[in-house]
Amino acid sequence: MNTARGLEGVVAATSSISSIIDDKLTYVGYDIDDLAENALFEEVVFLLWHRRLPKKQELEDFKKLLAENAPIPKELIDHLKSYPNQKVHPMAALRTAVSFLGLFDDEADVFTKEANYNKAVRLQAKIPTIVAAFSRIRKGLEPVEPRKDLNFAANFLYMLNGEEPDQVAVEAFNKALVLHADHELNASTFTARVCVATLSDVYSGVTSAISALKGPLHGGANEQVMKMLMEIGSVENVEPYIRKKLANKEKIMGFGHRVYRNGDPRAKHLKKMSEKLTKLTGEPKWYDISTKIESIVTAEKNIPPNVDFYSASVYHSLGIEHDLFTPIFAISRMSGWLAHILEQYENNRLIRPRAEYVGPGKQTYVKLEDRG
Ligand code: SDX
Repeated sequence: MNTARGLEGVVAATSSISSIIDDKLTYVGYDIDDLAENALFEEVVFLLWHRRLPKKQELEDFKKLLAENAPIPKELIDHLKSYPNQKVHPMAALRTAVSFLGLFDDEADVFTKEANYNKAVRLQAKIPTIVAAFSRIRKGLEPVEPRKDLNFAANFLYMLNGEEPDQVAVEAFNKALVLHADHELNASTFTARVCVATLSDVYSGVTSAISALKGPLHGGANEQVMKMLMEIGSVENVEPYIRKKLANKEKIMGFGHRVYRNGDPRAKHLKKMSEKLTKLTGEPKWYDISTKIESIVTAEKNIPPNVDFYSASVYHSLGIEHDLFTPIFAISRMSGWLAHILEQYENNRLIRPRAEYVGPGKQTYVKLEDRG
């Protein structure tokens, strides 16, 4: 039996949502470069869920639908206040909060196409409100209500900081959301599909996906990249720091990818954004340290940066707390998870691979009293 470790190279499903072929990423056939440069995040969510771009009025209606569903119930705000927030990682809080939210959804276990779509709208609309509320509550601040007149990206930054964000920040954050929205059968999306393939519900599917995204080999990498940049602290320290890690055979966070071999097409957009934003905030050193790391790692290991590497200095430049970087990834990837969950339900079959048994051979049972 040939066992593909980590299912490398295994085609486990057919999907019409996103594709990665020859290091090119497309969402429903649209190249990520075009979407990153032109699309509003809400447009991309519509595209992923409906498999086509929205017409003008459809987009306006969809933006309105998300805005109407952005508020979270008081019970959830009280629940968030009950967590030991100084110790809780925001991804653990998000996993818990999304699961709790499902208890208040009358359609949680209703399995019609319409009910599942309604749950997708509610989850996509509410996840930024949950992340922003958690961030403010742990600082002893009251959550800020979402506004109906701001787009998705602007609303999150507004709920986070309690003031209207500037256009540069909104455009950068919108682009980051577009770039993180979907990525074929990445670990968290595959987790969601395995979960709902048992005909479990949408909330269970996204809760399992949040759990998988939390890991540092997946979505948790962006926070680890920022930790590395802070530890390095200056361009002069890059070389000794990275060479030591490589000598110890340690993984450099933000580099490498299971599928991309010649580079992650999303990284160049985030690299450009990092250069612009770090200059604007007067901290170009984060970009300079990042490019120095990239030059050494690509020279020594020929392993290019992935989506998580430059997103760290981008989010830092937007003034976002470092342990919120992965929850932000979740805010965007919620759109992809939900697209894949809805697609799994459309044409479902239980996902159940095999394992090659390598344990002991046949054993004879010995009674407890005879085991000494
Ligand atoms: C995301 O799948 C997706 O699409 C994910 C994602 C998405 O949008 O959903 O793109 C988002 O999760 C990006 C990846 C974020 N994770 C990290 O940045 C963590 C650091 N990266 C590595 O852990 C690793 O590159 C993975 C996990 C991303 C991919 O791992 P693989 O495919 O299992 O590769 P591997 O660990 O088997 O490594 C192959 C070789 C090894 O060398 P050898 O032991 O054969 O000599 O490459 C080396 C590894 O040591 N290597 C690295 C490295 N990544 C791979 N060496 C140093 N630093 C790294 N980052």
